[in-house]
Amino acid sequence: MSPSFRLAVIAGDGIGPEVIRAALRVLDAAEQRFGFSTVREELGWSSARYVSWGRPVTPGDIDGLRSFDAILFGAIGDPRAPRGVVERDVILGMRRQLDLYVNLRPIVAYDDRLVPLKGKRAEDIDLVVVRENTEDVYTQTGKITGSGKDEVAEVPMRFTRPGIERVVRYAFELARTRPDRHLTLVDKANAIPVQELWRRIFDEIGEEFADVTRDAMYVDAACMWLVLRPEQFDTIVTTNLFGDIITDLGAAICGGLGVAASGNINPGKVSMFEPIHGSAPKYAGKGVASPIGAIGAVALMLEYLGQSEASRAIEDAVRAGLQSSRIKGVEAGSQKTEEVANIVAMAVAG
Ligand code: IPM
Ligand code: MG
Repeated sequence: MSPSFRLAVIAGDGIGPEVIRAALRVLDAAEQRFGFSTVREELGWSSARYVSWGRPVTPGDIDGLRSFDAILFGAIGDPRAPRGVVERDVILGMRRQLDLYVNLRPIVAYDDRLVPLKGKRAEDIDLVVVRENTEDVYTQTGKITGSGKDEVAEVPMRFTRPGIERVVRYAFELARTRPDRHLTLVDKANAIPVQELWRRIFDEIGEEFADVTRDAMYVDAACMWLVLRPEQFDTIVTTNLFGDIITDLGAAICGGLGVAASGNINPGKVSMFEPIHGSAPKYAGKGVASPIGAIGAVALMLEYLGQSEASRAIEDAVRAGLQSSRIKGVEAGSQKTEEVANIVAMAVAG
């Protein structure tokens, strides 16, 4: 019997629905070609729901996701809602409640012309960032106390040994399968001495992986080297906040936010896949957002679901489309969303 997967689809706000529609067209093509199927349930979680109900989701809604094999997520966020509320409820809500402790963010340049770095080519940029996804300053909203010139804002930067261990172990396992078998820990253990715990655990677990070489780098230096010598990186493991920041930089060196995808993973459990870009309200409804990030999210999802061949076919189709310039770019406005979806879907269909 051919495999079938239960898929929750959360298109969300802004350009989310457009890029998800495009990504699902590519998924249709992959299903036909590779003989698996998905049963999709569309969930209308959005800022519009926030505006009318005061909340986009409840913890019960998120619990309901556990019965799916995977979640495909578009984007969320709307200027009508207070800053960050909807993003925290939905995205951080899923990460925390479903314990999606790995945020897997490949940084792969598909074509030389997308690389903005002088003297660098697409082949120089092929790394993957494993971002811890449940701890750090993301665990709490913090507080602002006092008034006037005595106002103080604080939030704990919290890491637990099990929280670090599980993500570091995942990163070593992944590094073992990568071209250079090299893992870099990115932290700020000089200025933030509690991050010493990351260094210790990194070395402890590293001892179990004799086949993986390792080094550690401060996050400021890592940003510099990502721009100057991206080819030195293979696999990176880092904290939640630093991972957030360096992966936007990572997307930028591959052509922009429109290109990058990510997996929010709890190995063996329901996991969530999304483009790393946001809802981009100014492009919403125009049909010009790049669906490459969302299509990449489908590829990551299929890899996670064990459909590696289909995943590779999608990656190859995107790369071939960009290299032949049939896909004109990864920026909003470079081409119609639907046209890009058709190019990729046709190549995947074979
Ligand atoms: C991301 C986003 C989120 C984050 C925001 C929307 C809360 O920037 O997924 O990278 O900071 O993790
Ligand atoms: Mg981010």
